[in-house]
Amino acid sequence: MINITNENIDDIKNIINFEDEWKELLEVCLNCKKCGLYKTRTNLVFGKGSHSAKIMFIGEAPGETEDREGLPFVGRAGKLLDKYMYYFDFNLENVYIANMLKCRPPNNRDPQESEQDSCIDYLRLQTKLLNPKIIVCLGRISAMRIIKPDFRISSEHGKWFRKGEIHMTAVYHPSALLRDPPKKADALLDFKSVREKATELGLM
Ligand code: URA
Repeated sequence: MINITNENIDDIKNIINFEDEWKELLEVCLNCKKCGLYKTRTNLVFGKGSHSAKIMFIGEAPGETEDREGLPFVGRAGKLLDKYMYYFDFNLENVYIANMLKCRPPNNRDPQESEQDSCIDYLRLQTKLLNPKIIVCLGRISAMRIIKPDFRISSEHGKWFRKGEIHMTAVYHPSALLRDPPKKADALLDFKSVREKATELGLM
């Protein structure tokens, strides 16, 4: 049991309010009908990781396994992502992982522009609550939406961009690495660069 004192009462209130805001946002997403994907999903895939993390990974949209389990990156691509994370000491206590879309597009098709438009505000609110110092886009689709519309993953992966206080980069999507294993060497360097940036910013 936490001992509440005059010294820590404000901190405790802030933590309770902060967690309530996360819960409210989840509730709003669970009830969202802004696009049609809520009709075909099994589960909403909101995000996973620590609410006090300063490093945020953003993927594209849930796949079949994610839809079944309600968590991002738990299928084949997720298992590969886990390996890179483990290698560079990233884990669910120091990162937060979310997707552009919270519901699975049928047959894993690319998210439509209108679906992204419907869902982006929820991701913005998650980002606002988290207040990350580093955002790592997983793949082209999220990089084009979050870093810049003309982002070219083949030539710009691993490069750093800055928006205000947030340092941003993109790495190849783990599914692209499964399809094209020679790209794994580039991904290793890109994750190394993320780790170095995290150290440089005093996050790890
Ligand atoms: N691909 C993504 O972009 N996100 C997931 O959660 C799983 C696969």
